Amino acid sequence: MRTAPVSSSGGDYPVIVGAGVAASLKERVHELFPGLSRLGIVSNPVVWSLHGTSILKSLGTDLRTVVALHPDGEPAKHMGSILVLLDRFLEDRWERRDPLLVVGGGVTGDMGGLVAGLLLRGVPLLHLPTTVVAQVDSAIGGKTGVDHPLGKNLIGMFNPPRAVLSDPGFLRTLPIVQRRAGVGEVIKYALIGDRALLSLLTERIEELVASDFHAALWEEVIFLSSSDKAGVVSRDEKESGERMLLNFGHTFGHALEGALGYSGILHGEAVALGMLSAARISGAMGLSDSATFGVIRDLVKRAGLPDSWPAGVAFEAIAPYLGRDKKASRGQVALILPERPGSVRIVRDYDPDLLSLGVFT
Ligand SMILES: NC(=O)c1ccc[n+]([C@@H]2O[C@H](COP(=O)([O-])OP(=O)(O)OC[C@H]3O[C@@H](n4cnc5c(N)ncnc54)[C@H](O)[C@@H]3O)[C@@H](O)[C@H]2O)c1
Ligand SMILES: [Zn+2]
Repeated sequence: MRTAPVSSSGGDYPVIVGAGVAASLKERVHELFPGLSRLGIVSNPVVWSLHGTSILKSLGTDLRTVVALHPDGEPAKHMGSILVLLDRFLEDRWERRDPLLVVGGGVTGDMGGLVAGLLLRGVPLLHLPTTVVAQVDSAIGGKTGVDHPLGKNLIGMFNPPRAVLSDPGFLRTLPIVQRRAGVGEVIKYALIGDRALLSLLTERIEELVASDFHAALWEEVIFLSSSDKAGVVSRDEKESGERMLLNFGHTFGHALEGALGYSGILHGEAVALGMLSAARISGAMGLSDSATFGVIRDLVKRAGLPDSWPAGVAFEAIAPYLGRDKKASRGQVALILPERPGSVRIVRDYDPDLLSLGVFT
């Protein structure tokens, strides 16, 4: 088991990664909350039916648990679900010292994190992420939120957890397409600066996305990626500088997801394409050479992720969504462009005509 520390204005916390983290849940929660008698659990029916029994078993019998499930999927990530979850804990006469353990993917993490922040003006939060995206990204950094008809993640708050408990063993039951999409985010960490991860992926990316689950390899990849995210958010919690680099691949990725109405493509798949878009633009600006695009495309292809844009999606269809990203400041959207594998930069001044190069077949 290894730990990546996160420093946060709301209190520092560890990201603990390793096989066996879930099995040691009882010790972990009692260590974090001495005298604990009641624990709330937020999850969804898919995750809870697969892992609920073993989680309850590892928590032991001397703790009272209150389980609240929200419907599965991104469409359930809205304020209505938050109110239902809040009802469940308020009806149980929740107290401020009673923590919530959030068990699931990024959707559950975003919602459970928000519920923990709103309930009684804030109760302690623990993340037990069960998808690649949640383990390497969404559970770390304190961002929580829900979607609004006008856009994704428009309602939310910063609410850092007390700990993130990442057990790669959960990924065994994750559908392979979801694992692969998560690898899209992992490739991102390699390309924005993690050379060790880049070498590992270059050597073994096929094993990572194989249907056989390579436990030790996954653990290494989750730990390296979590450490990357932990490092960035520790240095720039509120996204004034370095945290923006995590948006690599996301400008075009989000625009594609928006144009497709957030269906038909997984987020990590869209990010993979978005990284290629960024590489094309940086190539045209002379900021990177064609070898850089080649390295990214090679990794994306070997991971089984799409390496060309879906037929029928023209630049005109995604253009309106490029500026809509909530990370856009006034005027041109800032681009995160690769210089070479392992190095990206923020570019604010560019010829807007170059943007159309981002969509390619
Ligand atoms: N807060 C942040 O910083 C941040 C960062 C990135 C993404 N996000 C958010 O995360 C969400 C995407 O997260 P996601 O990709 O984890 O999607 P998700 O939470 O919808 O999970 C994907 C699917 O896998 C299922 N699942 C989860 N764990 C499983 C397991 N171990 N075995 C089998 N099935 C399992 C889920 O029920 C779901 O059907 C988006 O809403 C996105 O906005 C937030
Ligand atoms: Zn992402």
